[in-house]
Amino acid sequence: MSDEQIIAPRFASTEERECSLLGQNFINQFCIFLKTCRIYDPDNNNYKLQLVLTNDLIQDHFRQLGDLTLQLQSDYLFYCGVRLRTEYDLESNAVYLIEFFRKLGISGFMFDIGFTSEGLRQVVKLLLAAEADGVNSYDEMLRRWQQAGVEFVEVLPPMVESLEQADQSRQRRLFAKKAFFSAISNLKSVVSAIGANRSVDLTRTSRVIHSLVDQVISDDAYLLELTALQAHDEYTFKHSTNVCVYAICLGNSIKLNKTELANLGFAALFHDIGKTRLPLQILNKPTEFDEAEWDLVRKHPTYGVLAIAKTMPFDENSCRAILVAFEHHFNLDGSGYPYVKFQRRLNLYSKIVAICDVFDALTSGRVYRKDAVSPEHVLRKMLEQAGTKFEPTLLKAFISTVSLYPPGTLLLLDDGRLAMAIGRSRHDLFRPRVKIIGDMFQLYEIAEEVDLSQRDEVGNYYRSIVRAIEPQELPVNLSHYILQSFQ
Ligand SMILES: [Fe+2]
Ligand SMILES: [Fe+2]
Repeated sequence: MSDEQIIAPRFASTEERECSLLGQNFINQFCIFLKTCRIYDPDNNNYKLQLVLTNDLIQDHFRQLGDLTLQLQSDYLFYCGVRLRTEYDLESNAVYLIEFFRKLGISGFMFDIGFTSEGLRQVVKLLLAAEADGVNSYDEMLRRWQQAGVEFVEVLPPMVESLEQADQSRQRRLFAKKAFFSAISNLKSVVSAIGANRSVDLTRTSRVIHSLVDQVISDDAYLLELTALQAHDEYTFKHSTNVCVYAICLGNSIKLNKTELANLGFAALFHDIGKTRLPLQILNKPTEFDEAEWDLVRKHPTYGVLAIAKTMPFDENSCRAILVAFEHHFNLDGSGYPYVKFQRRLNLYSKIVAICDVFDALTSGRVYRKDAVSPEHVLRKMLEQAGTKFEPTLLKAFISTVSLYPPGTLLLLDDGRLAMAIGRSRHDLFRPRVKIIGDMFQLYEIAEEVDLSQRDEVGNYYRSIVRAIEPQELPVNLSHYILQSFQ
């Protein structure tokens, strides 16, 4: 590495210098611990000593600077965003770590406040096991990470070298995927804190929501694509995250500002938090509820109020979340639940969340469900309820946000081919961007992406939609095609 490549900022601020110093100490200690773990098992005194020393440094860092991020970017290590001014020679710990991260296919990790020495023990065990198994991909690391369920730490994907060179859309997709799944995993840890009646730290939640807001503002297409996926076992988390993404998109289309979008996203993410107080056998019941069960389900808005009030800091943000949790099943005409004596004027955020909630409940998992109806069909049904159940202006804004053919809608085209909508076209609401997934005889392994609003030289469209296909007409697992773009 040449000297001119290592250009340290000439006038680094005191904070940056302090941060850099903490970072150097940390990577040295972390490497010692890593090397110790290669030799000794957890019962050994050396192991125990290095575990304590490394954890002490992390806890010190939390006290001084909050969350801790260590990440490899273009051949350098960055500690909480500050490039480490350390030796990058072959013998250095920095290079040892860089090589280690590259070998595993990751760029580093982020420790959040709450991380403990037990977590540290698990993390190093995971890293070394992955190394021994020859893992060399972020996706596989992420899978192992999630399977191990280590709390308060995230493994980070490799950074693309340069924005200009990189395929920008791929990078945006990766960012979208990361933000989306971070929202889900964060929600899980908040829910477990609430379940235990512990007060929750919302720093990370608010960071995740801000990153969702930023991405919606720059281009909401990739996040909307992800809402079409469904995790079988995590319905509530996925549903809440979808509702959060839809709400931010809708809020953005009616020109709410960034702070309002973050507040709205926060309220949307926790709208169903009261459901965590319902018995699991009701939540997972595959058949219809009986009357007694319905009575209980109708209590989840009230339970939501109590859960938020009890566990979150009392500020404007959580008060609004309380309001949305309470009001999201009220209809415009005063019907809905829970029972109240007098009709209420509903809060704007509640009306937004109500629309997003119903749409997701009726279409979620649309790429898996056998009994699913097409999103187009759901939107038409919802339009019939504009004015009674939903606020008409907001509903129209929602439809133009997700478009008439939201991602995941299966379409028959006039050339006889099958396509799956993946997003709006910039030019025409009725002509989405699609993936051509097959024809009458076969499904393709690799789907070609096309924009149905494109025309030939004489102005004719290359392809048009004949109709939307109801999912049960053609049971195809579409998740494969969606995830293809996010690899
Ligand atoms: Fe609900
Ligand atoms: Fe909901």
